[in-house]
Amino acid sequence: MRALRYHGPRKPLRLENVPTPAPGPGEVLVRVAAAGICHTELHFLSGLLDLGIAPLTLGHEIVGRIEKVGAGVPAERVGERAIVYYYVGCGSCAHCLRGDENLCDALRAEYGFVTDGGFAEYVRAPARNAIPLPASVSDAAAAPIGCGVTTALHAARIANVGLGDWVVVYGAGAVGFGLVQVARLRGARVIAVGRTPAKLEAARALGAEHVVRAGAEDVAARVRELTGGHGADAVFELVATKETMAASVKMLAKRGRLVFVGYSEDSFQVHPVQLVIGEQVVTASVGNTLAELREAVDLVAAGRVKTVVDRTLPLERFEEGFAALRDGRLVGRAVLVP
Ligand SMILES: NC(=O)c1ccc[n+]([C@@H]2O[C@H](COP(=O)([O-])OP(=O)(O)OC[C@H]3O[C@@H](n4cnc5c(N)ncnc54)[C@H](OP(=O)(O)O)[C@@H]3O)[C@@H](O)[C@H]2O)c1
Ligand SMILES: [Zn+2]
Ligand SMILES: [Zn+2]
Repeated sequence: MRALRYHGPRKPLRLENVPTPAPGPGEVLVRVAAAGICHTELHFLSGLLDLGIAPLTLGHEIVGRIEKVGAGVPAERVGERAIVYYYVGCGSCAHCLRGDENLCDALRAEYGFVTDGGFAEYVRAPARNAIPLPASVSDAAAAPIGCGVTTALHAARIANVGLGDWVVVYGAGAVGFGLVQVARLRGARVIAVGRTPAKLEAARALGAEHVVRAGAEDVAARVRELTGGHGADAVFELVATKETMAASVKMLAKRGRLVFVGYSEDSFQVHPVQLVIGEQVVTASVGNTLAELREAVDLVAAGRVKTVVDRTLPLERFEEGFAALRDGRLVGRAVLVP
C-alpha cells in the first residue's frame, strides 16, 4: 500500500510503498478514506516533538471503512464506517483504570505518534478503537473530529469551563474552532484571538461573541476591556510563543486557568507572585479519552459542533496541505484522501 513516511526531524516526508498490514486477533483493518493534517505534524517535522520513532506513518485524525476483521471480531463489522481512537492503553495502569488512556504509562499503540497512522491506504487497530460514524457525517468532515474536536472537549474539561465563564481561544485553527463551540456548549462567553481575518470570521460564525486581532491590537488589554475588567476565566493557548504566553498570563482573571494545548520553541516564564495574587492556575491538556471521541462524534452528528475543512487533497498532494498549514493559509483542516 502507499503510505506517507516520516523519517525523523528535518527530513522530508516520502510517499512510499509498504506492506499492507493484516488484522490480528481482536483487530480491524480500516481502508482510510480521510486523514486530517494536524499542526502537531509540523512539530514532528521540525523536531520540536521527537518521540524517537522513525520511519513512521503520521496522521492521527483517521476515518475510513472496515475492510477486514481479525479473529474474534464480528464479521458484521466489515463495511462499517469508522473513526479511529488514536491511543491504545495498557488497560491496567492507574490512568487506564480511570479511562485516561491518553496518560497511560505503558501505551501499546498511538497511531500517528509511535505507531503507523492514517496517512496511508490502510490502518490496523483494535476493534474497540474503531468508533462507528453516522452516515450524516461525510468522511472529510469527520476527520477533524479525531483530534480537533476531541482535544477541545478534553481541554474544556481540564479547564472546568462553566456557565458564564469568559473563555479566550488563543489561535483560530482547527482545535480553536472546536474550543469555541465546546466552550459555548458549556455556557461560556467566548473571545477568539487570531491574526487572519478569515479565521476570526469563521470563529465568530461558530459562536465567538468577540474576536481580537493579534498584531493589530493589544490582546490582553482588549480582553480586559471586553470583559469589563474581569479578565479571562480560561485561556486556551494554541500558539504558545513568548509573546502570546505573556499576553495570556496578563489577561487571566482571578482564579483563571491557563491551559496549554499548543506549544512552540519558546519556554514559558512567569513570576509566581503573579499567579499567587490571583490564585491562578497553569495547566495543560493532552489528547482525549475514548469516551470523549464518542461524545465528539455524537456532537458533530447532532449538528451541535461543526468541523471546518479548508480543502481535501489526494495523498500525493500532501506537500500542498503541509505548506498551506505551515504558512497559515488554511481556515480549518486540510484533509488527505489516501
Ligand atoms: N495537546 C494536544 O492534545 C494537542 C492536540 C492537537 C493540537 N495540539 C497543538 O495545538 C496547537 C494548535 O493546533 P491546530 O492543529 O489547531 O493548529 P492550526 O490549525 O495551525 O491553528 C493555530 C492557529 O494559530 C494562529 N496563530 C499563529 N500565531 C498566532 C499569534 N501569534 N497570535 C494569534 N494567533 C496565532 C494561526 O492563525 P493566524 O493565521 O491567525 O495566525 C493558526 O491558524 C499546535 O501547537 C498543536 O501541535 C495539541
Ligand atoms: Zn492532533
Ligand atoms: Zn495504561
